[in-house]
Amino acid sequence: MTTLLQSGARDTGCDHGRLRAAAASVLLGNWNGTGTVPSRSLYPHQWSWDSAFVAIGLRHLSPRRAQQELEWLLGAQWADGRIPHIVFNPAVPAGAYFPGPDFWRSSAAGGHRGAPAFAETSGIVQPPVHALAAWLVHRADPHESVRRGFLPRLAPKLDAWHRYLAGHRDLGGHGLAAIIHPWEPGLDNSPCWDAPLARVTPAAEDSYRRVDLDHSVAADRPTDLDYARYVRLARDYRDSGYDDAAPHAFRVEDPGFNSLLIAAEYALADILRAVGGDPAPALERAERLTAALTTRLWDAGRGIFAPRDLGSDRLLPVAGVNGLLPLAVPGLPSAFTDALVTTATGERFGLGRTHMVPSYDLTGAAFDANRYWRGPSWFNTAWLVHRGLQAAGTPVTRRLADDLRAGVLRDAWRSGFAEYVNPHTGAGRGIKDFSWTAALALDLLAGQQEDL
Ligand code: SER
Repeated sequence: MTTLLQSGARDTGCDHGRLRAAAASVLLGNWNGTGTVPSRSLYPHQWSWDSAFVAIGLRHLSPRRAQQELEWLLGAQWADGRIPHIVFNPAVPAGAYFPGPDFWRSSAAGGHRGAPAFAETSGIVQPPVHALAAWLVHRADPHESVRRGFLPRLAPKLDAWHRYLAGHRDLGGHGLAAIIHPWEPGLDNSPCWDAPLARVTPAAEDSYRRVDLDHSVAADRPTDLDYARYVRLARDYRDSGYDDAAPHAFRVEDPGFNSLLIAAEYALADILRAVGGDPAPALERAERLTAALTTRLWDAGRGIFAPRDLGSDRLLPVAGVNGLLPLAVPGLPSAFTDALVTTATGERFGLGRTHMVPSYDLTGAAFDANRYWRGPSWFNTAWLVHRGLQAAGTPVTRRLADDLRAGVLRDAWRSGFAEYVNPHTGAGRGIKDFSWTAALALDLLAGQQEDL
C-alpha cells in the first residue's frame, strides 16, 4: 500500500511507474522507424494530428525521436502549405486501410498543387496542433533541438501551413479556417456534422469496402451511411484536383479546429522568436482569429462555441467537445472561459462526474455512449481541456484540471490505452494500445506546468 501511495495511486488508482512503462511500451511498439502509427491494426500509416500528440508524449522518452516524428510528417507537406491528414507507408499492404493511396492518388491528382512525388498522402487536413507540438518538443531538450537545427527547419513549414489555412481555407471570408470534410476537425461522426452532412449524396456502398470494421466493433464506429458520405466528399475533392475554390457540399467553420489554430499561432510566434524571425504576422493572425471566433461562433444561449454551417450561414444548434476547446486559446476573455467552465461542469458534459469529457452533449438526442465521436470521451480532447483549465489558473479550474488529469491517467490504465471510453462507465471502446492515449498519459504523468 505504501508503495502504491508513494507512486501516485491515491489519486489515480494505478501505479505511476507501471503506467509510464506500459505507455512507453505502446509507443515503442507503434514506432515504425520514421513515425508512429496510431494503431498497428486500425490505422497503420502516419496520421497528422495523431503524430503531433504523439510527439508531445514522446518528448519525455526521446526528444530526438519526437523531433523525427514531426519532421517525417512535415516532410510530406504539399507546396501549397497543406499538411495532409495521412502520410502513407509504402511498406504497408494496399488493402490494409481504406481509403488508401490508390483512392487519394495525391501525387497525380494533387501534383499541380505541390503534392510530393516521393510520397503518397491523403489530400484533406486535420487540426493544426503541429506548431504547439514542435514548441513543446523543442522545450523538452533545447540543446538537442538547437544541435539538430530542429526549429529553423520546421519554422518555414509551419508558417506555410498556417498561411494555407488562413488563405485557401477562409471559405466564408470572415477570417476563420473552414473544414470541407468531417474528418478534418478530427471528430469524424460527431452529431455536430449531421445537418450539413445530410445534404451530401452518399457514394454507392458497393463502390468501396470498409476495412475499419475488420478491426473494430461496428457499434463503436461510424455508420455505413456516414461512411458513404465521407467517401463521396473525399472523392469529389480529389476529382476537383484538391481545389479549395471548387464548390464544396460540406463547408463548416469549427470552433475546435480554429481554437487549435490560434494556440498554434501563438506557439509559432514563440518558435519564430527563438529562431530570430518576426513573430508579428503569427500574432496578428492569432488576434484576428480570436476576434472572428468570439463574434461568429459563440452560442450565448447554450454557453458554448458552436460550428457555423457555411451552407446556411447559421450556427448549428449542437454542443460538442469541440465547442469547449476554446478553453485552450491563450488569453480568451474570462467571460467566455467562465461560461465554458459552467457548461463543462453542467449537465451536458458532467465534468468531474463522468469519465473525462464526453465528445457530445450527454443530454442530446443524438448522444451515443459508445459510437466514436457521438459521445465517448477521448484522451486528446481531455488533454486539451486540461491544458485550458490549468491555464485559466483559478482555484476552481486548477482543481478541475487536477481531477481531470487523475481521470485521464486512471482511464488510460484501466482501458489498456483505449482509443476512447464510454463516459458513463469508463469502459474502453474502439481499439487498445492507441498511440495518443499512451503519449498524452505520459505527458500528464510528467505534469510540466512551465509548458503553459
Ligand atoms: N478517422 C478516420 C478513420 O477512421 C480518418 O482519418 O479512418
